[in-house]
Amino acid sequence: MIYTLTLNPAIDYRMNTQKIIHGDTNRALSEELSFGGKGINVSKVLKNLGIESKALGFCAGFTGAALVSHLDECGINNDFVELCGGNTRINVKLCDGQNCETEINACGPKVSEDEKNILFDKIKNTVSDGDTLILSGSVPSGMGGETYACIIELVKDKNIRIVVDAQGELLLNTLRHKPFLVKPNLSELCGIVGKDLSTPDEIAGGAKKLRELGARNVLVSLGADGALLADENGIITSVCSHKGDAINTVGAGDSMVAGFVAGADEGYEYALRLANACGGATAFSVGLAEKECVEKLLKTKNA
Ligand SMILES: Nc1ncnc2c1ncn2[C@@H]1O[C@H](COP(=O)(O)OP(=O)(O)OP(=O)(O)O)[C@@H](O)[C@H]1O
Ligand SMILES: [Mg+2]
Repeated sequence: MIYTLTLNPAIDYRMNTQKIIHGDTNRALSEELSFGGKGINVSKVLKNLGIESKALGFCAGFTGAALVSHLDECGINNDFVELCGGNTRINVKLCDGQNCETEINACGPKVSEDEKNILFDKIKNTVSDGDTLILSGSVPSGMGGETYACIIELVKDKNIRIVVDAQGELLLNTLRHKPFLVKPNLSELCGIVGKDLSTPDEIAGGAKKLRELGARNVLVSLGADGALLADENGIITSVCSHKGDAINTVGAGDSMVAGFVAGADEGYEYALRLANACGGATAFSVGLAEKECVEKLLKTKNA
């Protein structure tokens, strides 16, 4: 089974306005709600590819209940620990008609030590040999930069593929446990290695550095510039992105993670191509990558 973990999921509330005047009452022209969180996005793309997964994490309050109902309606297996206080956060996105988006991301509910232990026990008791555990995104305030490393410790005696898509020390601290895959984007990679990387050689150098620190495979996503994989056999492979009109790149990286995991048993070269097609399919869609679009991109030559 593939497990995704979303410790701080969110409902995104997007309001489209003509113009935002600060300090005044503004009216929306339209509004949309979408359920998100990076691990949940990965589960959704896997589902679109016809692959089952189980979404784990924390939820709270009426927004958390709505999130779980949404996952049930989507047919995504889930087992969230319900927190006793607060609400799963609502992130507000304000679009002002000039394609300029202002975001206010909420901090989310507090997680007590007992609640953290309930989730950790669940992970320890459920994830077993042959499974994949995908650790994505930020963690609730108070849980700290060792969180993902601690979660890996829980399952370190089992034969599990660990995937980490996170920033800074959250990712860095997992490397000593030799995760199967890490997927930084370019700015995350620069942040982790502590310097600006721009040429293909510099980016490959940054990816190799993460391998030296312990990661088995390092997939660097480069947005419209494609992606670079430093694999566990020491091979560096680059792909150009698919060409098309990008509509929405939010979740492109999560889609890439889903694609790589879905293709990994068929070799890393194929996994990279599938990952690139999934990222592109999300960029070219209003929502997340759908199978039909992924298959169409996979057949095109430029990947
Ligand atoms: N404009 C684009 N055109 C084609 N493909 C794209 C575009 N943007 C992203 N992609 C594809 O999606 C992959 C992931 O994109 P990106 O590097 O933006 O991820 P990210 O920053 O981690 O995104 P997020 O964290 O929002 O999911 C890219 O490597 C590429 O394959
Ligand atoms: Mg990302």
